[in-house]
Amino acid sequence: TLNQTTYLVNGELKEWKGSTSKVYSTISSTDTYKPTLLGSIPDMGEKEALEALDAATGAYNRGQGAWPTMLVKDRIGCMEVFVEKMKTKREEIVKLLMWEIGKSLPDSQKEFDRTVEYIYDTIEDYKQMDRDAAKFQKHDGVYAHIKRGPLGVVLCLGPYNYPLNETFALLIPAIIMGNTTIFKPAKHGVLLITPLIEAFKSSFPKGVVNILFGRGRAVAAPIMKTGKVDVLALIGNSKSANALMNQHPKSNRLRLVLGLEAKNPAIILPDADLSLTVEECLAGTLSFNGQRCTALKVVYAHENIVDGFNSQFAERVDALKFGNPWDDGVKLTPLPEPNKSDYIQELIDDALTKGAKILNKKGGKRFDNYIWPAVLYPVTKDMRVYQEEQFGPVIPIVPFSDIEEPLNDMAESNYGQQVSLFGKDVYAVAPLIDTLVNLVCRVNLNSSCQRGPDVYPFTGRKDSAQSTLSVHDALRSFSIRTFVAFKDN
Ligand code: G3H
Repeated sequence: TLNQTTYLVNGELKEWKGSTSKVYSTISSTDTYKPTLLGSIPDMGEKEALEALDAATGAYNRGQGAWPTMLVKDRIGCMEVFVEKMKTKREEIVKLLMWEIGKSLPDSQKEFDRTVEYIYDTIEDYKQMDRDAAKFQKHDGVYAHIKRGPLGVVLCLGPYNYPLNETFALLIPAIIMGNTTIFKPAKHGVLLITPLIEAFKSSFPKGVVNILFGRGRAVAAPIMKTGKVDVLALIGNSKSANALMNQHPKSNRLRLVLGLEAKNPAIILPDADLSLTVEECLAGTLSFNGQRCTALKVVYAHENIVDGFNSQFAERVDALKFGNPWDDGVKLTPLPEPNKSDYIQELIDDALTKGAKILNKKGGKRFDNYIWPAVLYPVTKDMRVYQEEQFGPVIPIVPFSDIEEPLNDMAESNYGQQVSLFGKDVYAVAPLIDTLVNLVCRVNLNSSCQRGPDVYPFTGRKDSAQSTLSVHDALRSFSIRTFVAFKDN
């Protein structure tokens, strides 16, 4: 087992002497897919949380030479030291991603490599930002030297589906911009911080990065209550985000950087290329078992194409390979959340009682902690699988005869992240794009939804997001424009 016995506060790795929480793996060493004990983490509370907050506020306010006022090149230097150390931990972290959250080997490797690339790209972007800031402006006789500065103390909470990549997509730009941070890893995917904690300690000045373990309610809530957090950076669900925001006594002072739920639709027009659409929808709905905020979570298919789509799609779903993350060609892997299969089962049962059918033979079959993806058709608005963000292996298919039907549904939806539009006729597709970009933030033509490449803006409308992530945008999300002005006199 791997026991995390320390936590990082004020540049010190402190030994934890209190109670601990068990960490379970998603997969086991036997040939069943039942979770087994993997290790433990400290079960921290208010006392340590407030220590971390004091360390972060102290490091931010330490005056001249402190992290926020340090030369840009020196902050970049610290980040370069960190990324070099991180690179030596690739194998260990990839292994932990597979064991802890059941992510396939190629996807775990991709998560690691993408994170390293994200750090390098952020460094380059920050250098460019700094070069641009060196220029003076002059308007109406007033000179200005405008640059971007940090916001203060950032509380970072990442998600279990990208415990390294998305957590770092918050943390890295926050740190490099000169903010100080308190960071609590996700519930699943927490032990992969163990190989990195020493690198955080030795790469940054004390108090810049503070790492806590435990439940969000126990450590994040007391920090928020003090009103001393300047930025809440969270990727996860809106329930947790709202609960934390509401703890802050002056929430109007709080900057939010949030990546939350989505219900990204695929819209299949009658002339869509069927085999391409099937393959893209397969990846879009079921990569990492659909546990992605960018996953396609509802498929609208025109009535003239829906039968053809359904039969090919159902067959392809049943042909996917299930297994351990390191198995060759594996596409479906065990689920890290112990209750996820029961929840998916509830959605399926609800849809079946309201008139949908399971189109694929294996759909809904249970074994160990897994449920085989069910393709449900026809799905209607009264079904829970239509209304809720399933974040797991079940695919609702909704037929339509008029394009206004999916468009109206999207307009009424609480979410607005992305859409995938499948069709060949440019005269049908082009006018739709203008409508769709006003409903979501990214329109994917003849391809499934995704966050990357990470230089493109990643955000959403309505309840899906606040602020924008991506290499370029995250630096802006974690900073404010400040300037020195003087007159020509
Ligand atoms: O869970 C949400 C992630 O941002 C999805 O990222 O599209 O790269 O899988 P991805």
